Amino acid sequence: MKIDLTGRTALVTGSTRGIGRAIAGTLADCGARVAVVGRDLEKARIAAASIGGGAQGFACDISDTAQVNALVESVETAFGSIDILVNNAGLTRDNILLRLKDDDWDTVIDANLRGAFATIRAATRGMMKRRWGRIINISSVVGLVGNKGQANYAASKAGLIGLTKSVAKEFASRNILANVIAPGYIVTEMTQAMTPEAQAAMSSQIPLERLGDPRDVANVVAFLASEHAGYITGQVIVVDGGLVM
Ligand SMILES: NC(=O)c1ccc[n+]([C@@H]2O[C@H](COP(=O)([O-])OP(=O)(O)OC[C@H]3O[C@@H](n4cnc5c(N)ncnc54)[C@H](O)[C@@H]3O)[C@@H](O)[C@H]2O)c1
Repeated sequence: MKIDLTGRTALVTGSTRGIGRAIAGTLADCGARVAVVGRDLEKARIAAASIGGGAQGFACDISDTAQVNALVESVETAFGSIDILVNNAGLTRDNILLRLKDDDWDTVIDANLRGAFATIRAATRGMMKRRWGRIINISSVVGLVGNKGQANYAASKAGLIGLTKSVAKEFASRNILANVIAPGYIVTEMTQAMTPEAQAAMSSQIPLERLGDPRDVANVVAFLASEHAGYITGQVIVVDGGLVM
């Protein structure tokens, strides 16, 4: 089975580094033209240049709806369409619940959840007209099982699952498919910030006995974006080495 995304266009949020960068690179390797999106235009342009295949860099803070609407318009103008939307951008503001400030809550929900809602609302207009679309939202196993010190993050990631299932039902008749990927512990700057002891403790809980690689997630995104996944919608695919089962 070969994944061929030739002729497709993809917008990947938060794709200047980490999992998003791997997703953008893999989609481009499969033939898609990719909009690399970061808050910093220069970094997005550098990442796009290193990805190649006609990739282009765009700046957007996804927690700002006006910027999201402008982003979708710019990408559609540059590429002609957005066929594949990957909501990957995300952040954490961890603390135990009693110390979480309203601002910690709002910052995480606004970026991780409202940002995804805003990109979907803007990008589905064109997808509906063309009667083809793939939406892939990057949640987390934390959205399935919760985590001490991450009530805001877990709520945002669980919210993405409800959002995706609703979108899958609303847009199925237009041939727009929406799915969630819930990664476990993946080696990126987000997890590298943890102490080696914490990382070793994590690995010991994982049946496959290793942290994930960003490509483990990117490969599933490419599959879900492809024609091979044409009968899959509203699902949560867990990519975690067996941590949650
Ligand atoms: N690394 C993991 O173990 C892991 C596990 C489960 C889920 N995830 C999720 O995968 C996604 C990518 O994570 P990562 O590990 O690559 O993290 P990362 O911090 O390396 O990358 C996240 C990217 O999102 C961008 N971003 C954050 N807020 C933004 C905003 N308001 N507007 C635009 N861009 C914004 C950041 O600038 C960054 O480029 C996130 O949604 C994260 O929650 C990661």
